[in-house]
Amino acid sequence: MSATLDPPCAPTVGEQRDRVAAALAAAGVPSPETDARWLVAHVAGVDPWQRPDAPAGEACGRALRPLVERRVAREPLQLILGHTAFRLLDLVCRAGVFVPRPETETVAGLAIDAARAAGARPVVGEPCTGTGAIACSLAAEVPGVRVVAGDVDTRAVATARVNVRRLTEGRAGVVGPAPGATVEVRAGELLGALPAALTGHLDVLVANPPYLPDADRTTWAPEVADHDPVRALVGGPDGHEVVAELVSAATHWLRPGGTLVLEIDARRAATAVEQARRAGLVDVGVEHDLTGAARALLARRPAVEIEEAR
Ligand SMILES: C[S@@+](CC[C@H](N)C(=O)[O-])C[C@H]1O[C@@H](n2cnc3c(N)ncnc32)[C@H](O)[C@@H]1O
Repeated sequence: MSATLDPPCAPTVGEQRDRVAAALAAAGVPSPETDARWLVAHVAGVDPWQRPDAPAGEACGRALRPLVERRVAREPLQLILGHTAFRLLDLVCRAGVFVPRPETETVAGLAIDAARAAGARPVVGEPCTGTGAIACSLAAEVPGVRVVAGDVDTRAVATARVNVRRLTEGRAGVVGPAPGATVEVRAGELLGALPAALTGHLDVLVANPPYLPDADRTTWAPEVADHDPVRALVGGPDGHEVVAELVSAATHWLRPGGTLVLEIDARRAATAVEQARRAGLVDVGVEHDLTGAARALLARRPAVEIEEAR
């Protein structure tokens, strides 16, 4: 597929952005202006908010054309750029690994609040870590936290470890790790990735697991259908299988009073609440993201188990 960028050069950043945006819009790419801004900035080596009358310089080079063609072919912008913003961080994104979404920033924020409220050395488990977006955010924003993250996909594990290393070395955005914070990324199935010694000791169990039903596949945009791994998206034929498994495992892994935070499908919020109550969790509720969608299940293991209290 070829993008209309002839001639490929424009004298200013603004004109080059307009030219790229027109090519993306003609191809039906959503948010063409924003994507053009980032692509031009990437090639020109300038800030995305560079003044439009600044000379385009390198942005005029032919390096821009293949990137525009990839976006016209509906490759996600984050994979073309190789990174994305998530809360305070700049995270590496790689082909074959789920691209972190803005709505998950809300979920990470709930886990951060719960970890901060848990005391001096909170312990957090995060299965289904993908790029490590939630785990790295916890380590950046919660002093003293110990995060143990896991994923079944070896490409995700490798990418999350790169992001942890970049955070540790102060190369993952405007912040480094919070004082005393640590993150470990392990390969494994759901909670099986965590050390058995953490059973019953997690202050927070957080995850953005696969939660879409198989039938949704026909509705996905090309960026999702052709680039996010199916295993990152589909929880099973019903969609809710992995969420249900994590809800029922929560009381086993959380310490008494510990908090569960799970990203969920808004369509299954009532089911998730019901399952959490049946699993013996308390203070069960649903939190909404910035678009107003029911985005996270929030619940706690009782601080004192009923049998113990008697
Ligand atoms: C929706 S993505 C979330 C990634 C990341 N936490 C985020 O929010 O950007 C789900 C992740 O769960 C992983 N996953 C799927 N099934 C799994 C399983 N049974 N055990 C562990 N990880 C799993 C996928 O590989 C994928 O990285």
